[in-house]
Amino acid sequence: MKTFEQEFDYARPLGSGIHGSVYQISDIHAAKFYDEQNVSDPDKECKIAKELYKNNINVPKPEGVFKIDLKAKNTFLSQKHAFVMEYLPGYILEDVPSNEIKRLGLNELAEIELEKARKLGFLTIDSEPRRNNSNQIWCPDRNRIYIIDFVNWVDGRKL
Ligand SMILES: Nc1ncnc2c1ncn2[C@@H]1O[C@H](COP(=O)(O)OP(=O)(O)OP(=O)(O)O)[C@@H](O)[C@H]1O
Ligand SMILES: [Mg+2]
Repeated sequence: MKTFEQEFDYARPLGSGIHGSVYQISDIHAAKFYDEQNVSDPDKECKIAKELYKNNINVPKPEGVFKIDLKAKNTFLSQKHAFVMEYLPGYILEDVPSNEIKRLGLNELAEIELEKARKLGFLTIDSEPRRNNSNQIWCPDRNRIYIIDFVNWVDGRKL
């Protein structure tokens, strides 16, 4: 199995939530680690991300699920499964001042991406920008909003 171990020797924490923690593991990659009890989470999230990416929805490019060693400050996780994706050089909407969000129409840009996902049949739980501003990343250099965090999404096509 391909590993990303060689690409980093010190991971930078990017954020964490109820399900896991995300680290930058190289110049271009981020990895999401999950709590032990939800072993199927990385596969689920990666699968959804791949489907969205394939359909030209703005999500970090998914690389796959890999067993990797995580070395970060005060943290060492040995051979844990992680969802590896493109690192997005940007800001979560939570950290963008509300007047900027308004001026640039960032909530609306996020809505466009979510609507595309809904059209494909996904239930975009936890992602609505007006309710939760931690799952959208604004990349000013790319002039793009990206949607992240699909742990709570439901693939309605399978219902
Ligand atoms: N690809 C990425 N590039 C840059 N930063 C990221 C990336 N993915 C996640 N992050 C950062 O990590 C934080 C946590 O990511 P995410 O929302 O996927 O996990 P989580 O909130 O811990 O999971 P959950 O909501 O499932 O508990 C984000 O709010 C964001 O700041
Ligand atoms: Mg989140």
